[in-house]
Amino acid sequence: MRPVPPLAVAALLAGGLMSVTAAAPASAAGASAVTKEPFGTMPDGTKIDRYTLSSGHGMKVRVITFGGIVQSLEVPDRRGRPGNVALGFGTLDGYLSPTYRTENPYFGAIIGRYGNRIGDARFTLDGTTYPLTANDGKNTLHGGAKGFDQRVWKAEPVRGRDSAGLRLSYVSPDGEEGYPGTLRTTVTYTVTPKNELRIGYEATTDKATVVNLTNHTYFNLAGEGSGDIYDHRLQLGASKYTPVDSTLIPTGEIAPVQGTPLDFRKATAIGERIRDGHPQMVIGRGYDHNFVLDGGGPAARVTEPASGRVMEVRTTEPGIQFYSGNFLTGRLVGTSGRMYRQGDGFCLETQHYPDSPNKPNFPSTTLRPDETYRTTTTYAFSAR
Ligand code: GLA
Repeated sequence: MRPVPPLAVAALLAGGLMSVTAAAPASAAGASAVTKEPFGTMPDGTKIDRYTLSSGHGMKVRVITFGGIVQSLEVPDRRGRPGNVALGFGTLDGYLSPTYRTENPYFGAIIGRYGNRIGDARFTLDGTTYPLTANDGKNTLHGGAKGFDQRVWKAEPVRGRDSAGLRLSYVSPDGEEGYPGTLRTTVTYTVTPKNELRIGYEATTDKATVVNLTNHTYFNLAGEGSGDIYDHRLQLGASKYTPVDSTLIPTGEIAPVQGTPLDFRKATAIGERIRDGHPQMVIGRGYDHNFVLDGGGPAARVTEPASGRVMEVRTTEPGIQFYSGNFLTGRLVGTSGRMYRQGDGFCLETQHYPDSPNKPNFPSTTLRPDETYRTTTTYAFSAR
């Protein structure tokens, strides 16, 4: 039913590339594989590579070593036609351009050390106050001025029985962006035969610190560059959220979604209530909120009526930031040569709640030297 991906293992091997597995189930359209190619050079001469992880069942995820960015994510629609559902750029220059660096939408990137915001760019741990880089007004956002999204990651393909994986690692030195402890981080992307992208995060530290890792892919299940995502139907496994102040820092309250435009317990079109005058919607210019996951089921499920594509998100994290691409301005031209305007992509960033280091009533983000930080998030794709 689905088209056979043109995966010639021999050709891949001949090109110095590697195939992760040859064994595939009888019904398989092809074998999973990992291939590697150059993706450009950083201003300091560092070479950036792009890895393609193929499921053998029509899913291809392309990851670059700069920022561990998911540069494209191809999945079939209901007729088996592939489409790239992740916003991004076709070249490294796209991610380095001054316009991109100013807008900083974090397309597809690994976010660390602390995904989302920490109020007043500081936190106190074990009696010591750590000042962080303020890069979002007076707050710190997504790791600071040069977060994990702008680091070059070491990459190593991972062999699975029938999956294609890539393990990325980065050692963040003690004091980077103000955070204490040397943080050894690995992020493993795995594409499974069920067309899932599984992201495993691991970190250890040599001093007590805080950690909150996530991925900032913007999805448009109709295809990147195809317009806004307001017709996508979203369902969230969340009956509560963390309301924010005017700078998007949680007030500390954990409030019910009931009776607000943030109630996505039943599948609802993203655009249906996006212009609601609720104060939280005005602050976010749309959706830009952390939802408190009820647990026990998927965190989120998104369906796109025209293509039939479905994405389900499962996670070990207690929260998810639903961001409706409010700060996209139309100044960036994406992979397919079309510009990205407000609402042309959405993010579902699995995470601990924003500003947890300053909110004793939120689940803790502290990591101590005798512990290993481990979280997993899976984005599962299908079509109907
Ligand atoms: C996150 C934030 C948003 C915005 C985007 C990047 O999702 O919550 O407010 O900063 O990143 O543009």
